[in-house]
Amino acid sequence: MTKETMNAIPDIIIAIDGYSATGKSTLAKLIASDFGFTYLDSGAMYRAVTLFAMESGYVKGGEIDAQALRKALETDGLDIRFGAENHTFIGERCIEKEIRSMEVSSYVSPVAALAFVRAFVDEKLHAWGRQGRVVMDGRDIGTAVFPDAQLKLFVTASDQVRAQRRYDELVSKGQPSPMEEVMKNLKERDYIDSHRETNPLRQAKDAFVLDNSDMNLHEELVWVKGLVMGRFQIFESI
Ligand code: DC
Repeated sequence: MTKETMNAIPDIIIAIDGYSATGKSTLAKLIASDFGFTYLDSGAMYRAVTLFAMESGYVKGGEIDAQALRKALETDGLDIRFGAENHTFIGERCIEKEIRSMEVSSYVSPVAALAFVRAFVDEKLHAWGRQGRVVMDGRDIGTAVFPDAQLKLFVTASDQVRAQRRYDELVSKGQPSPMEEVMKNLKERDYIDSHRETNPLRQAKDAFVLDNSDMNLHEELVWVKGLVMGRFQIFESI
């Protein structure tokens, strides 16, 4: 995208929601770099809180000690930030690898279902997203975090495609897991994420649906650019 086209895009928020492993974050990062926007990965925030809970001993034998976690977040907070290459940090410590592990994936949905965890994360997302020129991906961005976002996407893909993508991602990171386990984890997270009480995963009424099962990233980006150009009447070749 040329500098002029980038500058013609208003200071909007692009909200990208959808089920696990639909490639939301890959698409969001690409849009951000193409549009000159900031990318914010809300899932990484929930993963960081989950890692913190696990390392602090608040997750034992599959049970989450919600009271202890709440007290820790309320008294000391948690200094989650994003650094170079969108890597996630707690303070100065890069936790990017740890938060993508299967272990964190297996606890993140129940942790993210806790209302006080959502309030804690939402406050940070609001502060960072407020000024616009942001692409944020997650489960409730277009419905709860930024219901007034100017462009909302809801991304879907078939179960098979999603499981294969997550499997390949884990292999490429040197953390392989059996395919059955990957599929099971995706289905469990989908269920918990869309059935929890506080801000469950839902398609916003005004979201555009993107099924990317048979699309490559370039096709996805062109599709999104078309939407943005059309909406803001930016007439230039894409
Ligand atoms: O996008 P992800 O797979 O990294 O997200 C990890 C988990 O975090 C997901 O299973 C549910 C939770 N999450 C959420 O509840 N709300 C969001 N906006 C983003 C993620």
